[in-house]
Amino acid sequence: MSGRFEGMVSVITGGTSGIGLATGKRFAAEGARVYITGLQQAELCAAVAAIGPMASGVQADSTRSDDLDRLYERIEKEARRIDILVVNAGRGSQLALGSITEQHYDNIFDLNVKGVLFTVQKALPLLREGASVILVSSTAGSKGAPGSSVYSASKAAIRNLARSWTLDLKSRGIRVNVISPGPIKTPLLLGLAGVNPADQQAFLEILASRVPLGRVGEPEEVASAAAFLASSDASYIAGSELFVDGGFAQV
Ligand SMILES: NC(=O)c1ccc[n+]([C@@H]2O[C@H](COP(=O)([O-])OP(=O)(O)OC[C@H]3O[C@@H](n4cnc5c(N)ncnc54)[C@H](OP(=O)(O)O)[C@@H]3O)[C@@H](O)[C@H]2O)c1
Repeated sequence: MSGRFEGMVSVITGGTSGIGLATGKRFAAEGARVYITGLQQAELCAAVAAIGPMASGVQADSTRSDDLDRLYERIEKEARRIDILVVNAGRGSQLALGSITEQHYDNIFDLNVKGVLFTVQKALPLLREGASVILVSSTAGSKGAPGSSVYSASKAAIRNLARSWTLDLKSRGIRVNVISPGPIKTPLLLGLAGVNPADQQAFLEILASRVPLGRVGEPEEVASAAAFLASSDASYIAGSELFVDGGFAQV
C-alpha cells in the first residue's frame, strides 16, 4: 500500500466498527495518523488496537457539544491540524408514518444532522487549507423505503449540507463530499434484522437480490471510496456524492 496519507492527520467519527473502522484501517495503512471516536470505551480500545500504532481513540458522543470540544482540544494539542475529516457516526431505526414518535425523530436527527453539522463546524479552526471533509450519507437519502422516512430525510439533509458548505468553504479550498453507501455488511445493517443469525442471513440475501451487483457490500469497499475522496486523486472533486452501492440506487 502506498503512503498517500503520510504525515496527514485524519479524524473519523464512529470509528469503532463497520465503515468507520475499515476506513481507519485503510487510512493508517496509507500512512495517516488516525483519530477515531465512539461511544463505548471498550470498543474504542479494541478498535485502536486493530488499527495499530497510528490510531488514537477519543470517547465522544457526536450529539454532545462538550464532547466535540474535548475531541478537538485534544487534536489541537497533539496534532495541531486536521487534513481529513470523515463524519461517519450515524444511526437509523425504522418507524412507519402513523407511529413516528418525537423521540425517534430526535434520536435520528440529533446524530445524523445536528451531530454532522457541529462535528464539521467545530473542526473548522483545525482544518487546514485544502483539507478533505467526507460526510457519510446513504442511498436511503435518494430512495424511499417503508418505515424509513425519518432516517432517509436525515441522510438527504446531509447531501445538501455538502453542497452549501462547498460554497461556504471555497476560500479555503476545503473539499466537502458525500459518500452514500448502499447495503454494507456492518453491525448496523445486521441489527435491522434482529439478533438471530439465521434471520440476519435471510435479510442479507433479500438485500443482495435487490442490488444489481448481486451482493451486499463490505465496509472495506466504502473505505476505498473514502481513501479516494481524501486523496489528491480527487483534487477537483467537490460538493459531489459518490455512491458505493453496487448500483442499488442507480438503476
Ligand atoms: N451499513 C450500511 O448498510 C449503511 C448504509 C448506508 C449508510 N450507512 C451509514 O454509514 C455510517 C456508519 O454505519 P455502519 O454501518 O458502519 O455502523 P456501525 O457498524 O453500527 O458503526 C457505527 C459507529 O458509530 C458510532 N456511534 C454511534 N452513535 C454515536 C454517537 N452518538 N457519537 C459518536 N459515535 C457514535 C458507533 O460507536 P459505538 O459502537 O461505541 O456505539 C460505531 O463506531 C452511518 O452514518 C450509517 O448511517 C451505513
